[in-house]
Amino acid sequence: MNLGSTLSLVYRFCSFYLKATNRHGLQAPFAYQLNEFVFKRDRKYDLLKPIEKLRKKLKEDQRKIKVLDFGAGFGGHVFKELSVSYIAKKSAKSPRYARMLFRLVNYLKPLTIVELGTSLGISALYQAAGNPSAKVFTLEGCPETARIAQENFNQFPYYKIELVVGAFENSLPILLEKN
Ligand SMILES: C[S@@+](CC[C@H](N)C(=O)[O-])C[C@H]1O[C@@H](n2cnc3c(N)ncnc32)[C@H](O)[C@@H]1O
Repeated sequence: MNLGSTLSLVYRFCSFYLKATNRHGLQAPFAYQLNEFVFKRDRKYDLLKPIEKLRKKLKEDQRKIKVLDFGAGFGGHVFKELSVSYIAKKSAKSPRYARMLFRLVNYLKPLTIVELGTSLGISALYQAAGNPSAKVFTLEGCPETARIAQENFNQFPYYKIELVVGAFENSLPILLEKN
C-alpha cells in the first residue's frame, strides 16, 4: 500500500470515527483535532517553497543514474538506467500528500522520525520542515539515488536528516537497535 492510500485510509477511518462517536454523543478530541488541523486544513506554506523549488529543479535534471529496482521482486538486484527527472516525476510524494505529511509532523511533533524509502528526499524534507527539532532517519536501498538525495539534504543544513543506505531488511533492525 503506498502512502497516498494509507493516508486516505487514515482519513476515512477518522471521518468514520468522528461520525460514529458523534452519533452517541461521545467526544473524540484527538481524532477531531487531527481531522481539523491535519487532514482538512490544506494551504501553501512559505516554509515549503524551497522544497518545491528543489522538486522543480529535479524534474528538469536530465542526469542519468543506475537505479537498483526494489519493486521488481528480485531482492533489489535489477539495475535500470533512469533520469533524475523521471524519478522526481514518478517517485516523489505529490505536493498535496507531502503537505499532509508536513502537517501531521507539525501537529504531532515527534522527536524521531523513521522513513522507509528516501528516493530523492522530497518527503523527508517535508517531514523535517514539520518539526525542525526532530531527527529524521530516512532509509534508501539504491546507492545512486541516495547520493542525489544526500546532495539535496546538503542544501538544507538546518534540518537534522540522516540518510541510511541499504536494504530495509538489513538497515532497519540495525537502526532500531542503535536508537
Ligand atoms: C516511492 S519511493 C519513495 C519516495 C519518497 N518517500 C518521496 O516521497 O519523496 C520508494 C523508495 O524506496 C526504496 N526501496 C523500496 N524497497 C526498498 C527496500 N526493500 N530496501 C531499501 N530501499 C527500498 C526505492 O529504492 C525507492 O527509492
